[in-house]
Amino acid sequence: MTPRFRTAGFHHITMVSSNAPRTLAFYRGILGLGLVKQTVNFDDPGSYHLYFGDATGAPGTIVTFFEWGGLPQGSPGVGGVHHLALGVATPEAQLKWKRRLTDAGVPVSGPYNRGWFRSIYFADPDGQILEIATKGPGYTVDEPADALGQKELLPPGAEIVGDRDERLIQALTHPEPVPVITPDMALDGIHHISAISTDLVRLDEFYASALGLALVKKSFNQDNPSVKHWFWASYDGQEVAPHSALTFFGWPPRGRPTRPGVGQTHHIAFRAPTADDQLAWREHLLSSGIQVSPVMDRTYFQSIYFRDPDGLLLEIATDGPGFASDEAPGALGRELRLPAWLEPDRERIAGALAPLGV
Ligand SMILES: [Fe+2]
Ligand SMILES: [Fe+2]
Repeated sequence: MTPRFRTAGFHHITMVSSNAPRTLAFYRGILGLGLVKQTVNFDDPGSYHLYFGDATGAPGTIVTFFEWGGLPQGSPGVGGVHHLALGVATPEAQLKWKRRLTDAGVPVSGPYNRGWFRSIYFADPDGQILEIATKGPGYTVDEPADALGQKELLPPGAEIVGDRDERLIQALTHPEPVPVITPDMALDGIHHISAISTDLVRLDEFYASALGLALVKKSFNQDNPSVKHWFWASYDGQEVAPHSALTFFGWPPRGRPTRPGVGQTHHIAFRAPTADDQLAWREHLLSSGIQVSPVMDRTYFQSIYFRDPDGLLLEIATDGPGFASDEAPGALGRELRLPAWLEPDRERIAGALAPLGV
């Protein structure tokens, strides 16, 4: 694998919302993410496409939603994403999130010690499973930095279901209410994305060849140790790149397929540095026998799409031109933006969308 076809990590994740104003209230109002773009689905201009992220919408921090209220509720399964984890710096800040979320009426489980990080879990208003995971201690606690993913293991300190004191864990929280998100609580984009497959060995070949991802951890689902849990990431043999860990639970061969719909992930996008890299990447995918879409202009980046062996929809998106290409950097997300070819229809399009109250 030449480094040219090793992605730097995630560009964005796109999920399905049934109600854009409610999604905005949750992700911006409760989780404190920035709304960096309000636009419509370019393939379905009657529906919102909201982009959240850090102040600039940097790749790796971007979480986006299609609003498709008419779709049925989805459910996780083979070929789909199980959950999205956002990063936080410390266990103390994580407990503040637990307190803030529970005070807002959002049930939270954990914190669980996952060995390489600690995790709390909750769901967004559409049922999308979310996690907030600590940055550390990291993947090198049980293997040398230059030899990750060698052994099948449970990390030190792992808390296995049945052995852990759930009551004690549930009682752990921050002692004071957290009405304001303090700087230490800032969510640092995509920590990892966990999906479901029936064949982890086949996936290893696929993700190595298609995206240059390396297997960095072979473990078990601590909440169901009969299920394998493998981690891939952008890893050069020395360091795991931030915002790049893609994990899969290994389900039995005839495991239930995912049901796409509300509360589920629509696709996962990885980074390519430039449009030239993306074109070369497209040729590389085609020559590997992978069907891939033509390049699509998404205004803020260029995209190509393909699927993994279980049917999970993947995208490679260019880093540029970015979200400041049609709004001032300090005023991202303030108003509905449309690509030039939809501008003539602005009145009709905007009139059909529920006001966001931005
Ligand atoms: Fe996770
Ligand atoms: Fe996308």
